[in-house]
Amino acid sequence: MQITVVDQKRADIQADAEIVCVVGKDFDHPWIEDKELLTLAGFQAEQDETSFLPEKRRLYVGVESLEHDLVRSAYAAAVRALRETPLQTIKTGLYLGKCSAQNIKATAEGLILGDYVYDAYKSQKAKHPIQKVIIAAEDFNDKTVDAQKANSYVQSAAIVAEAVNYTRSLVNTPPDEMTPAELARKAEALAETNRLECTVLDEKGLEAENMGAFLAVSRASAHPPRLIHLAYKPADPLFKVALVGKGLTYDSGGLSLKPSDFMVTMKADKSGACAVLGIIKAVSELGLPVEVHAIAGATENMIGGDAYKPDDVLKAKNGTTIEVRNTDAEGRLVLADCLCYAQDKVQPDYLLDLATLTGACVVGVGEYTTGVMGHSRALKHSFSKAAANAGEFTCTLPFNRHLAKLLKSEVADVCNIASSRYGGAVTAALFLDRFVEEEMKEKWLHLDIAGPAYVEKTWGYNPSGASGAGVRMCVKWLEQSVRERQKAAH
Ligand code: BES
Ligand code: ZN
Ligand code: ZN
Repeated sequence: MQITVVDQKRADIQADAEIVCVVGKDFDHPWIEDKELLTLAGFQAEQDETSFLPEKRRLYVGVESLEHDLVRSAYAAAVRALRETPLQTIKTGLYLGKCSAQNIKATAEGLILGDYVYDAYKSQKAKHPIQKVIIAAEDFNDKTVDAQKANSYVQSAAIVAEAVNYTRSLVNTPPDEMTPAELARKAEALAETNRLECTVLDEKGLEAENMGAFLAVSRASAHPPRLIHLAYKPADPLFKVALVGKGLTYDSGGLSLKPSDFMVTMKADKSGACAVLGIIKAVSELGLPVEVHAIAGATENMIGGDAYKPDDVLKAKNGTTIEVRNTDAEGRLVLADCLCYAQDKVQPDYLLDLATLTGACVVGVGEYTTGVMGHSRALKHSFSKAAANAGEFTCTLPFNRHLAKLLKSEVADVCNIASSRYGGAVTAALFLDRFVEEEMKEKWLHLDIAGPAYVEKTWGYNPSGASGAGVRMCVKWLEQSVRERQKAAH
């Protein structure tokens, strides 16, 4: 879908149809030319409700207010409704609200995110009628807009939204196709097109790096593991970030096997890894002046004669020994080694990890929210602000010294599960903390995306399945950090 902003009035643009928003149920706004017909059609202008008037070639969509995430959602609903028609070229106006840049970006994101369908395995492919969206540089509330500037916002929003869709497709791909080796091939292809550095470690490579925890998790799988390391290195970067992603291409639970109902959807346990690939894709296309490393631990967690087991003691890359008490707490084992690798190889200014780590996080904050954890209040605060501006929900979950003690092991340095059934999202993060070096503590952030990464029903601009959670908030945080550094330098 091609989106452009033109310095014209809506009325002067040639298109097959127009998208018109009804804001806050205000049918008396001059842009609403079909009040009577809409009333007859029973249109209430609820958020995301649509009404298509073919004879007028207008698609009306309700939006509660001009808050950016509501605009994003309304455009997604509009594009979904228009997919049902054969219309190819659509026009619309601007709904700017408080922050013009944010709402222009939200419009483009809503269109691209709403247009996404995963139909790779459908014999009957989804229709793809909308080719072009032309946005008039004319605001609903008569705010003045610079068309050229607006266009540049649209183009950068398109980069981010396409990266989200890229992540969604990686996650949605079934586990027998998207094996660790295949995910590594996808990363290599991305490195090729986006001119990134790419290193892939196989089992031998993991052994050479003493990644005993990662290797144990992977041992029973017919599909060998891969550590994927992509690097984007612009000239004169302002700072350096390492993003570590959990890449369980399938999590059966291992010998601590999941019940059948809980195993379904565990192809999505690679969402953190797919998100870090999406983030580095977007950052490299935006040309941000930040050095970004995307490190993904890709493996399956399976059963078999040589499966790792409860009671095993593993040795991680940093020498820490781990008593296994539950093989389903495997993500933290993979991440432990990957976090060590990231600190060792990259020495980053910030270390972020993204993982579908715990069911406890979903229980605690619900399906749509990312759990944000770490030691630095300032970092958690700046990240949460960026996430909200990107339209992603977050909630910070606090550490405390009593929870940390629950990971004590009688036979090893640490246990892979806590001795209490409560606070599982936090204790998982506190396990990871054991692999974060002292000088990195304040620079580390853990993002538990177990809830939002994969939801089996449509929510706003997210279709059923993978959402690409984490991509927009991390890109926004990087952009925000760049801006803050540039400001401080002046
Ligand atoms: N991949 C799961 C976490 C998960 C659960 C992600 C639901 C998405 C939706 C993880 O590996 C896991 O199984 N965690 C266990 C930890 C427990 C054994 C301490 C869990 O959350 O039950
Ligand atoms: Zn698990
Ligand atoms: Zn898992």
